[in-house]
Amino acid sequence: MSNVKKIGVLTSGGDAPGMNAAIRAVVRTAIHNNIHVTGIKRGYDGLLNGEFMDLDASSVSSIMYRGGTVLLTARCPEMMTEEGQKKAANIYKVLGLDALVVIGGDGSLHGAQALMKFGVNVMGIPGTIDLDLDCTDYTIGFDTAVNTGMEAINRIRDTSCSHERCSIVEVMGRNAGFIALWCGITGGSEEILIPEKPDINNDSVVKQILQNRSLGKTHNLVIVAEGVGGSQELAEHIESVTGIQTRATILGHLQRGGVPTAIDRMHASMMGYNTVKALIEGKINRVMVYRDGKYDDLDLNEALDCKREYDNTLYEISKILAI
Ligand code: ADP
Ligand code: F6P
Repeated sequence: MSNVKKIGVLTSGGDAPGMNAAIRAVVRTAIHNNIHVTGIKRGYDGLLNGEFMDLDASSVSSIMYRGGTVLLTARCPEMMTEEGQKKAANIYKVLGLDALVVIGGDGSLHGAQALMKFGVNVMGIPGTIDLDLDCTDYTIGFDTAVNTGMEAINRIRDTSCSHERCSIVEVMGRNAGFIALWCGITGGSEEILIPEKPDINNDSVVKQILQNRSLGKTHNLVIVAEGVGGSQELAEHIESVTGIQTRATILGHLQRGGVPTAIDRMHASMMGYNTVKALIEGKINRVMVYRDGKYDDLDLNEALDCKREYDNTLYEISKILAI
């Protein structure tokens, strides 16, 4: 018999498509194992301000198909203070929770790590479109965000082709270039600017575009990661130096919404299920990861210390495929 009788679940930081499937999996796996679930609204903000709701099996029906998070999410400055963390830990104890499941990105997991120091049993589930957690090969929301970016690029390509223009598309990703690399390869771009590769600059982009035009390309596509930014300035630079009409489109929050893909629903369902299973096995203060094709749980401190070297392979392949 498991000692876990009551758990809390919250979503925090930037929302990500698939978070609802993770909530559903946590709730249903818990209920299947006679564990009570308290939903905490608006992330750490709701924990500090008493925004709780009991979740039963039916309260999570028909949510998996929707983007965003039904628990709502927030960024909570109070959690960055020791006072706020102590207050949150105390509320957790008053609520009688045996564990708190945190679904969110790097910041949210650091919040969980802080709570751990004040006696809260935490479990993390990686949820962010950015894929910027080095401990895992997958974060919930990435696939949907890339698909949304790719579809937007398809549309931009149509008009770019008709007008024989150069199109710059800026995609999200905070300080990471994963969304840009995937959108670049799946959208067929000629150049990808990412924070991990500062050697690609406005002048090298111009050189690449002119070379491609001389080889017969009649329109161009360049992807810029949010962490590099400056896409409007890049468009103006290209147009002034080359005379090629250039337009910049910043996809922004468009990429955070939308119906989650099967990949996101699947990872979210497996991660939610495996998180509750791990709790039942007596594991605490861990984060669920997907590595080398398998789900696993890692010690939260060690997971947040993981550092992944930048691998240039995807960029190199994108250049070969763009000739
Ligand atoms: P994400 O989880 O998507 O990376 P943020 O970085 O904005 O999003 O973090 C979400 C929230 O997690 C923050 O608003 C804050 O409440 C909490 N948080 C982030 N970093 C820390 C930290 N070092 N200590 C405590 N709480 C943190
Ligand atoms: O972390 C997800 C993300 O969408 C990043 O790609 C982006 O930098 C950030 O959140 C935007 O945050 P906000 O919704 O607060 O503008």
